[in-house]
Amino acid sequence: MDGNTCLLVERQGSAVWLTLHRPQAANALSRALVVALRQELAKLIAEPGLTALVLTGAAGKAFCAGADLKERLAMTLDETRSFLDELGGLTCDIEAFPLPVIAALSGAALGGGLEIALACDLRVAAESASLGLSEVRLGIIPGAGGTQRLARLCGVATAKELILTARRIDAATALALGVVSRVVPDVDLRDAVIRLCDELAAAGPLALAQAKLAVDEGFGKPLGEALAIERRCYEVVLGSDDRNEGLRAFAEKRAPRYRGK
Ligand code: COA
Repeated sequence: MDGNTCLLVERQGSAVWLTLHRPQAANALSRALVVALRQELAKLIAEPGLTALVLTGAAGKAFCAGADLKERLAMTLDETRSFLDELGGLTCDIEAFPLPVIAALSGAALGGGLEIALACDLRVAAESASLGLSEVRLGIIPGAGGTQRLARLCGVATAKELILTARRIDAATALALGVVSRVVPDVDLRDAVIRLCDELAAAGPLALAQAKLAVDEGFGKPLGEALAIERRCYEVVLGSDDRNEGLRAFAEKRAPRYRGK
């Protein structure tokens, strides 16, 4: 099963769930799956009424076992280079997506699988989840942003410990280290993520986009520069219909009806 069937796309309220669907390969990232994900993200940017994306894995046993190592075996070095470009591009597409992207993790999230989760804004793990950047044991290094995003998320010392040992950590450890922000029982993962999506759906979509941008663009910059970025993002919402609707709805004691404009 590959091509379009390797990615399931499902609307759930105002969120879209993207399910990696290669159960025969622990949802590993084949070239076709990476291309399908990038194409879907490009389409979804223009989807009206969307408030969040969820990335998850089919069958619950694995979120994603990283790059497809069987496919990799048959690749030339140049083909591997272009795969790395595509996979790196996918993580940047996720990061730049103008709405929150949630990784719903159950089972293994390894190598490139964890790297795409690290590019998401929020990570919710089932108790069974097992996370790791296992590349050095394969004689390679994380090549889709893992060395950089894990260090930014958890600090350099934790990133080095996890990357250099290739250790697989359980969900509780991932929570303690800040790799995920929430752990729930396996059977509750879907409902917990739907509830999280509901919280996001109460916000103005334009505000979500600009808040995400302000955090991402400002992070790591000198404070003055970062505050200027926040101000620039505020300026976008200041002139919006959503801002007026938020104020009106508050005054009228009703739920706002945001249009993302
Ligand atoms: N690429 C291609 N196929 C993979 C894969 C990968 N990254 N990871 C797992 N698979 C395949 C297995 O080869 C197996 O196929 P088979 O039945 O034809 O032998 C199938 O997926 C199921 O995997 P299996 O190991 O039997 O299941 P499991 O539940 O015991 O373990 C994992 C699942 C993901 C924990 C384990 O397969 C694993 O550790 N995979 C390697 C992950 C890795 O190192 N990724 C880093 C890439 S940089």
